[in-house]
Amino acid sequence: MIRFDAQENAFYLDNGRITYCFGVVKEGYLESRYFGRHLRRCQGSARPAYFDRGFCSNPDSQDKRFSLDTLPQEYPGMNQGDFRSPAYAVETADGRRVTRFLYQGYEILPGKPPLPGLPATYVEQPQEAQTLVVRLADAHTGAQIQLFYTIFRDLDAICRHVEVVNGGREALWLERLMAMSLDLPGNNYDLLTLSGSHLMEKVVSRRPLTADSVVLDSCRGASSPQQTPCVVLTDPQTDETHGRVWAVNFVYSGDFQGVVQMGQYGGVRVQMGMNPLTFGWNLEPGQRFVSPECVLVYSQQGLNGMSHTFHRLYAQRLCRGPWRDRVRPILLNSWEAFTFSIDEEKCLSLAKQAAQLGMELFVLDDGWFKNRMDDRRALGDWVADPVKFPHGLGRLAQGVREAGVEFGIWFEPEMVSYDSDLYRSHPDWVIRSPYYDPVLSRSQLVLDLSNPAVQDYLVEAVSAVLTETGASYVKWDMNRHITDLGSAWLPARRQRELSHRYMLGLYRVLEQLNQRFPQVLFEGCSSGGGRFDAGMLHYMPQTWTSDNTDAVCRLQIQWGTSLLFPPVTMGCHVSAVPNHQTGRVTSLQTRFAAALGGNLGYEMDIRTLTPEEQAEVKEQIRTYKALRETVQHGTFYRLLSPQRHNDSGWNVVSQDGNTVVCCQYRVLADPLRRTTVVHLQGLDPEATYRRQADGVCFGGDELMYAGLSDAPVRQDFVSVISIFQKVEG
Ligand code: GLA
Repeated sequence: MIRFDAQENAFYLDNGRITYCFGVVKEGYLESRYFGRHLRRCQGSARPAYFDRGFCSNPDSQDKRFSLDTLPQEYPGMNQGDFRSPAYAVETADGRRVTRFLYQGYEILPGKPPLPGLPATYVEQPQEAQTLVVRLADAHTGAQIQLFYTIFRDLDAICRHVEVVNGGREALWLERLMAMSLDLPGNNYDLLTLSGSHLMEKVVSRRPLTADSVVLDSCRGASSPQQTPCVVLTDPQTDETHGRVWAVNFVYSGDFQGVVQMGQYGGVRVQMGMNPLTFGWNLEPGQRFVSPECVLVYSQQGLNGMSHTFHRLYAQRLCRGPWRDRVRPILLNSWEAFTFSIDEEKCLSLAKQAAQLGMELFVLDDGWFKNRMDDRRALGDWVADPVKFPHGLGRLAQGVREAGVEFGIWFEPEMVSYDSDLYRSHPDWVIRSPYYDPVLSRSQLVLDLSNPAVQDYLVEAVSAVLTETGASYVKWDMNRHITDLGSAWLPARRQRELSHRYMLGLYRVLEQLNQRFPQVLFEGCSSGGGRFDAGMLHYMPQTWTSDNTDAVCRLQIQWGTSLLFPPVTMGCHVSAVPNHQTGRVTSLQTRFAAALGGNLGYEMDIRTLTPEEQAEVKEQIRTYKALRETVQHGTFYRLLSPQRHNDSGWNVVSQDGNTVVCCQYRVLADPLRRTTVVHLQGLDPEATYRRQADGVCFGGDELMYAGLSDAPVRQDFVSVISIFQKVEG
């Protein structure tokens, strides 16, 4: 899949469906040539015109047509005449930032090497992928930059990351180190991003690219609900099904920066990496620095095609552990109904009721540990509150299992409250500057996870609870962003490393817990989807999508999330009405139809349901169990966007192609009761499908090309779930 063409001086990464090509020019510079649909050869038919232009600097004094400012580059530096956004900036021992990393050689490796200490996609067999390592060297410092490219045999994705090796005799300071940089030709693109906020994560925003730069970033200590480390470029006419898409997603959970920069002579530069605002790294002689990786996806089949590549890669080769391929349990979570006032008696009665309704897991959320009566105290002290749980957590978990459901528990391990035994005994374990009182958020402080003693404490504290309870599920929360970046553990010259060291520390803690408790299902959370990113999915194969459980808002949030992440990674719960975030009242049916887009759970006091509601919930759970393999592990298609329409819809097709689920939603009642049609996707046009509700049979061609209408009723917030089974023969 990877070859170096000596005649063209070019590297080709090609799996028969996509081609990625770059060349070596002037014996040192890497020229981006092509990323897109498979080509037999890339001879330069679309190469930009090179001539002597005003203000262009010329590294080759004999050739005034050649300038780095106009060259489409693979990994541009700074201070050498490319005045666009640099991929890296290295400060040398003399305080200058002038380096010249030039092409030196390459190597092709089978499979995909792991990234030590970092989340990454992986292969199970070496033949699933091939990796190219291109070496750039700087003659003055003796340092090397190594560019890693992995192409997958069965997926239209390329993974890139960068390693820096200090082979010199003096320390280097890495100031900026993007995981990838790519110059694409042309200037007629739309840019799609996933922006948002707490309670409204991953809203799709789309605009035409004009001149100038767009910077997406987070310096919050988490990938954040405000931005997603992802850049999607499309042709202007690209939609869900048709058209070209180039997407980059960062496999990282901390501060990031994404850059989209239009070139003055056409062409667009795309970069993604750690945020230089909060990143810096002191690299001593002999040391190596490994950046996190980016996934680059190309799709010829619009945004659904892009999503299918991300979904397959993330579900099968980013997520790990025994839960990767299993269906996920239907859970009852205590938070929305009880917040901090939860106790043993409530837990046991809820667990009993949950089991009767067919649920499989009871999750004890916040409020269970010593003195935790509100959000102002006790974070860090991971022992049960003796008043609420007089018989301890072990007995509670046993009781929950005897009631007929598994036991799961909530933690927010990265945090500490002033009012906690942990803070009183280790005031030096928090992130802060010694000169100011740290800024609080939700009344809490952040632990300094760069410190190995803090990491070890967390592993032991969480392990003790998991061992005592035999919990089969953990919800891992993170409810504030990081301020006052300062560490009592790090020396002065390494303070700028704190943000990245925090992430490395967190990943180490999660890795150890994964290894100690391989059977435990971890679900990530950060006040909802505040850290719903590819980095976290490597350790926790699902994430709580949003604290906003309102069915109408959820349609948008889940739609945006599905651009990158498959339904099996999304926690989706039915909660009580009026919804506690929006005050909106939607039917139980519509709340279920919204939650059907991911991993189903309930988050309400199910003991107060009327007998009719109980019967309805029971029926929902029966339905979900029958469909869950399809919903969680099938192929998901977005059909009509809830962001742009009053009516929206999606469908999912099981892996074996036999089951199809289609959900349609209408937000506001239409006085004209117009009919909306969605065109299903992924069906076999030759096959026949029987609709479960009425037994009527339709051709796959009809459902896809003629479409499926909804049943307009005089009501707001309505939904229709249609289930089809392929009919044999
Ligand atoms: C965050 C989570 C909620 C809940 C609370 C508990 O907001 O997103 O689901 O766990 O914390 O404090």
